[in-house]
Amino acid sequence: MAATKHQEVGHKSLLQSDELYQYILETSVYPREPQAMKELREVTAKHPWNLMTTSADEGQFLNLLLKLINAKNTMEIGVYTGYSLLSTALALPEDGNILALDINRENYEIGLPIIEKAGVAHKIDFREGPALPLLDQMVEDEKCHGSFDFIFVDATTILTIIKG
Ligand SMILES: C[S@@+](CC[C@H](N)C(=O)[O-])C[C@H]1O[C@@H](n2cnc3c(N)ncnc32)[C@H](O)[C@@H]1O
Repeated sequence: MAATKHQEVGHKSLLQSDELYQYILETSVYPREPQAMKELREVTAKHPWNLMTTSADEGQFLNLLLKLINAKNTMEIGVYTGYSLLSTALALPEDGNILALDINRENYEIGLPIIEKAGVAHKIDFREGPALPLLDQMVEDEKCHGSFDFIFVDATTILTIIKG
């Protein structure tokens, strides 16, 4: 059976119809997508692990949410090529910060030139390595308590540990 567009881009939507999801993407989501996000989405689509990326609709929801709460300091666990990271960076003010954690820097570097071109790379503090040891250190350090307005956990291994 030929894959639909929905399956090709690997989305696991709550919507039960691929056609409806594709319609929403084409009529509502893609027309509002900033050029840099589009570029990053298209580069990521060529990567063998593209199923991991945040979808364009999720990216716009994240961006909206961050603006609504006036987020300034955020953390992202699970960066991959940086689609949700770029969406976050575009939502934060000029002096906003994102602590971005991933075990794999190579994939982050695929998106980095696009993030730099978008003029938001200065908001990102990328750290390569497993998130949990750093999170443990931050729990120990009182200075870190209450320092994040928003944390996006998008690494399955971490989610599994949190859920138990
Ligand atoms: C679903 S992808 C993240 C997608 C990303 N948010 C985006 O918008 O494209 C999950 C990422 O979590 C990373 N990861 C998995 N386990 C991790 C861990 N223990 N610590 C940090 N990163 C981890 C993987 O390397 C992978 O890049």
